[in-house]
Amino acid sequence: MKHSLLFKYILPFMQWYVLMILITIGIDYLLHRLQLVWVGRYLGYVGTFIVLLSFIYSLRKRNRMESGSPKKLLMLHEYLAWGGSILLLVHAGIHFNAILPWIAIVMLLITVASGLVGKFILKRAANTLNANKQALMNAGLGQEAIDKKLFFDSVMVEAMDEWRSVHIPLAFILGFFSLLHIITIFMFGK
Ligand code: HEM
Repeated sequence: MKHSLLFKYILPFMQWYVLMILITIGIDYLLHRLQLVWVGRYLGYVGTFIVLLSFIYSLRKRNRMESGSPKKLLMLHEYLAWGGSILLLVHAGIHFNAILPWIAIVMLLITVASGLVGKFILKRAANTLNANKQALMNAGLGQEAIDKKLFFDSVMVEAMDEWRSVHIPLAFILGFFSLLHIITIFMFGK
C-alpha cells in the first residue's frame, strides 16, 4: 500500500521517541562536561513535578476542573509528560544503583511510547481512515469495494481503539514503581 498508515504515522512517532533519547544523552553529556552531575539528582524532583502537572488534563476531563480547553490541556499533557520524562531519564542515567529505579525507568519508556502511539498513530489513523473512506465514496465506489480497499487500515484503527486500556494501566504501574522508588530512597537511601 503506497501511502500506508503504518509508514505515514510510525515515522513521526519514531522521531519524537528518538528525539527524547537524543536530548537525554545531550543533557547528560553537558552535565558531565560542566561537572554538574549532581544536578541529575534534583532533575528527579523536577521531572516528577512536570509529569504530575501534566495531569491537569485528567482533572479537566473528569470535570474536577471547570476551566481550560480539553484539547489544549491534552496537548499540555503530551508535551509536559514527554519533557518531564526527559528529565527523569537524565536523572536515572546518572544514578542507576538499585532494581526499583530500573523498573520505574523501563515503565517510563514504555508509557511514553504508548502515549506517542496514541498521539501520532491512533488519532491520525482514525482521521485519515475517515477521509479516505469519504474520498472513495465520492469517487463512486460501493461499500464492499471500499471495505476491501481499506481493510488493512481499518483493522489497524480498530486494534488501536483499545489503546486507552493500555496507556492508562501502564501509567499506573509506572506511578506504583516510582512511588516505591521514592519511598525506598527516603527510607534506605537507594
Ligand atoms: C510519563 C509519561 C506519561 C504518563 C504517566 C501518562 C499518563 C496518562 C494518563 C493517566 C492518562 C489518562 C487521563 C485520563 O483519562 O484521565 C493519559 C492520557 C493520554 N495520554 Fe498520557 N501519559 C504519559 C505520557 C504521554 C505522552 C508522551 C503522550 C503523547 C505524546 C501521551 C498521550 C496521551 C493521550 C493522547 C491521552 C488521552 C487519552 C484520552 O483522554 O482519550 N501521554 N496519559
